[in-house]
Amino acid sequence: MAEKIRSREITPENLYLNRRNFIRAGVFAGSTLATAGVYKLINPPPPKEVETAPIENVVASTESVAGDELTSLENITNYNNFYEFSTRKTAVARAAEDFVTEPWSISVEGAAGKPRVFGMDEILKFTQEERIYRLRCVEGWSMVIPWVGFPLRTLLNKVEPLSSAKYVAFQTFYDGANPKVSGVKLPQGANSMQSSFGAGIEFPYVEGLRIDEAMHPLAIVATGLYGKRLPNQNGAPVRLVVPWKYGFKSIKSIVRIRLTETEPPTTWNIAAPGEYGFYSNVNPEVAHPRWSQANERRIGEIGMRKTLMFNGYADEVASLYSGMDLRKNF
Ligand code: MTE
Repeated sequence: MAEKIRSREITPENLYLNRRNFIRAGVFAGSTLATAGVYKLINPPPPKEVETAPIENVVASTESVAGDELTSLENITNYNNFYEFSTRKTAVARAAEDFVTEPWSISVEGAAGKPRVFGMDEILKFTQEERIYRLRCVEGWSMVIPWVGFPLRTLLNKVEPLSSAKYVAFQTFYDGANPKVSGVKLPQGANSMQSSFGAGIEFPYVEGLRIDEAMHPLAIVATGLYGKRLPNQNGAPVRLVVPWKYGFKSIKSIVRIRLTETEPPTTWNIAAPGEYGFYSNVNPEVAHPRWSQANERRIGEIGMRKTLMFNGYADEVASLYSGMDLRKNF
C-alpha cells in the first residue's frame, strides 16, 4: 500500500517557509492569514488520488537507481512544489485539480533554422521511455521517480538549432488574468493559479540550461510518471527533468522553449541571486547560504542519507563542467 506522508516530513516544509520568507519577510506575520496558515499546516488535506491516462508503448527504463526504492505514487503526487498553485506542498494537488491542460502546445523558437509550435499529439509521438531518476530539491529532500518521457535533444533537434544558440530558455504557462488573481469568481473548470505576490516569486516561472546541458542524453522532457500522463501537480502535460540539478531547474507545464545566444534569466535566481545560481548542480560540498547540502531526507524513509555529487550522475555529467569553479558557478 502507498505510504502516507509522515509528520517528520514537515521539516522540509519549514525549510521552504524559510526560503520564501527570506524574500518576503514580515508580509505574513501577525495577520489573520497567518492564523489560517498555521491551521492548515496542522491539519493538512487528505492525499489526493491520481487519475490520469496511461501512456502507450513505453520503452523499458534505460536508467536505474541502484539500491534505491521508488518513492510511492502517493508521495510523488501529494508533496509538490508548484508555486503557481500553492506554496504549501501538501496543498498543490488540490489547488491544481482544475488546471486545464488540453489543448496544449509548446513553441520551440529563437536561434533555430525551423522554429515551430508542437501540439501534444506530436509530443506524445516521440518514443516514450521510462527513466527512473533521483530528484533532489534544494530544500534538502529527495525522491526516486519513474518518469516517462524522451530526451530534450530529440525535440530541440527537430527545430535545427543554429550554431549561435548557446542556451535554452524555458517558460511555464501562467494565466496572469486568472479570476482568482483578479478576485472574480472562478468559472467551472477554470484553472486556479495564484498571484505572483501570493507566491513570492515572479511569474511566469522561467528556467534555463546551457545548450550542451540541454543536449545531454540525461535531460528529458517528461510526459508522465508511473506509466501514466503527468498529474497536474507534477507539471502536466510536459515538464523538464534534469536529474543532476536541484529540482527547481525541472520546470513544469512548459509552453515556450527558446534557443538563445545569451544566458537566460531564471526564476529563483531573480528572487535571490546570492542563493540560487544559474547552474544549480547538486553539490554536497557547496552549502546553500542558509543550510548545508551535504545530506538529504528521502521522502518515505527514516533518517538522512548523504547527498551525492551531481545527485549521483557525476560519471555522466561531470565533464560538462571541467575547468569550472563550481563554487563560483553554483
Ligand atoms: N516549475 C514551476 N513552474 N513552478 C514551480 O514552483 N517548482 C520546482 C520544480 N518546477 C516549480 C517548478 C521545484 S522547487 C521542485 S523541487 C520541483 O519542481 C518539484 O517537482 P515535483 O512537485 O514534481 O516533485
